[in-house]
Amino acid sequence: NGNHPTGGGKLDFTAIKPVPRTVDDVTVPEGYEWGTIIRWGDPLFKDSEEFDIQHQTGKSAAGQFGYNNDYLNIVSDGGNDRSGYLVSNHEYTNENIMFSPEYIISHRKDVVDAGIQSHGLSVVELERAKRGQKWEYVQGGRRNRRITGTTPFKVTGPAAGHALLKTVEDPTGTRVLGTLNNCAGGTTPWGTVLSGEENFNQYFKGRGTAEEKRYGIGTKATQRGWELFYDRFDLTKDGYENEANRFGWVVEVDPEDPTSTPVKHTLLGRFKHEAGTAVLSGDGRAVVYSGDDERHDYLYKFVSAKKFVEGDKKHNMRLLDEGTLYVAKFKGDSPKSEIDGKGTLPSDGAFDGAGEWIALATDKKSLVPGMSLAEVLVYTRLAADKMGATKLDRPEDVETNPVNGKVYMALTNNTKRTEVDEANPVVGNRDGHVVELTEKGGDHTATTFNWVILLLAGDPAVSSSAYFAGYPKELVSPISCPDNVAFDSEGNLWISTDGQPGTIGLADALHKVTLDGPERGRVEQFLAVPRDAETCGPVIHDRDNSVFVNVQHPGEDGNWGAHTSYFPDFLSPAGPVQVGDKVAAPRPSVVQVFNVTGN
Ligand code: FEO
Ligand code: CA
Ligand code: CA
Ligand code: CA
Repeated sequence: NGNHPTGGGKLDFTAIKPVPRTVDDVTVPEGYEWGTIIRWGDPLFKDSEEFDIQHQTGKSAAGQFGYNNDYLNIVSDGGNDRSGYLVSNHEYTNENIMFSPEYIISHRKDVVDAGIQSHGLSVVELERAKRGQKWEYVQGGRRNRRITGTTPFKVTGPAAGHALLKTVEDPTGTRVLGTLNNCAGGTTPWGTVLSGEENFNQYFKGRGTAEEKRYGIGTKATQRGWELFYDRFDLTKDGYENEANRFGWVVEVDPEDPTSTPVKHTLLGRFKHEAGTAVLSGDGRAVVYSGDDERHDYLYKFVSAKKFVEGDKKHNMRLLDEGTLYVAKFKGDSPKSEIDGKGTLPSDGAFDGAGEWIALATDKKSLVPGMSLAEVLVYTRLAADKMGATKLDRPEDVETNPVNGKVYMALTNNTKRTEVDEANPVVGNRDGHVVELTEKGGDHTATTFNWVILLLAGDPAVSSSAYFAGYPKELVSPISCPDNVAFDSEGNLWISTDGQPGTIGLADALHKVTLDGPERGRVEQFLAVPRDAETCGPVIHDRDNSVFVNVQHPGEDGNWGAHTSYFPDFLSPAGPVQVGDKVAAPRPSVVQVFNVTGN
């Protein structure tokens, strides 16, 4: 996950005890402390307005750190431990806890505009006196940037300019305003950031077509009501029928160049991209893995035609425009009768098997009968439906382990799972699971692979299906709803969760999972996030003795005046709403956990 200093710390810790869901704090291991690097509303530019939670507007939000930060990377400048930057996504907004009910009524358009500007991404410069310390953000840093729901994007790849992408505001079909619902992401080998536009359906009022339905676009007024002020969010309006086709892509941003135009890549297909994570194959081609986070949806990968060229960012930023898009088909190796739906291991001792990557399209042609190239790319879910891809239990983050080269996929849960298969073996899969995928010959461009379920999540004390690669259940931290995955410098897997409060009654968490040796499958909890929050974007700089997470949607289940979280300012809820830069309301924030024992 990005470059970071080598040598130094080992990030030793003793697993924390699981934290009840009602605890409104960041809980870290003994010997560690946590602090925020930046919070929702903190000003990014020299002329940014100071955060004023009572008077937010589109203009104020456009100059401040956005809401609900999900993807995160912390990049230190080459060979330099004292300067760098962070990149973060801002997935969505929680209007019920961002604005007072009075303000929502009296300043309806300001609330809409502040919401649109609080989406997108941030690039923020960082500095510190020496390594091992906490980073501070730099207001007015050279690379500081906000990308929002109105920033112009260039559309590239084979569907750019196609009729399906044209609107009355963009007759070229190549220039889209904004990015929405950016969930997880990844830093590419050439230093850019890929970010997935995930649940974009919720921003649009649809016409009720079959394609819109397959993507979850409803026909009722949206909850945020952006369509009342901006016609493009209403697909029933003349000339705007295709606006939703312009979202649901993987976007690419160059964080080093704040003047660059970000890109939407059509050759990676359109679905609810959890993320896009790129890795180079042995022969230098770019391979991007991406899950479609929906119950019974699919895992995809893209393989570039051209090769990465060291130092040529312009060339590398065009790699995703030519190549092949695939979708995954999983096949178990145990008899169907042995998959009992309760997580009982089949007689060969593993949920495992082989798989194939089914090609859907190249940059030149569709490989799906009855669909044109543009249709495959714009309606990728329908293309994958036709080709018999394997319906998975909500594929979230999918990332390649830089140490062992295997690919790890978090399947977060699927309460609607009724028919099981060996890759999705639990009926009503409440707690989710993690699949370890090995491309044939270790080659990321391969069209076949092997796979094994690394763990079936759960609280071993109450869940009989919980399974941790054979490691003794009584020795692991309980875990549920795996969402983001990351790796430390030794190749251990780190998993952040989204949903533990609702399944096993525990605050969402970050866990370390050992992959190698006799302790394979050992889950150790490193931290827990505040009430109603989700742990996002883990970045593990073990040699810097630091772990970074995005604390997303703290206090999401509360209301203005009745918040369930006051993270991170913890201003007394009985006190005034704002004192200086602190507010008596939850604020999504970037958190650094660092070692204070000097080990
Ligand atoms: Fe935004 Fe799939 O989590
Ligand atoms: Ca098997
Ligand atoms: Ca996610
Ligand atoms: Ca999530």
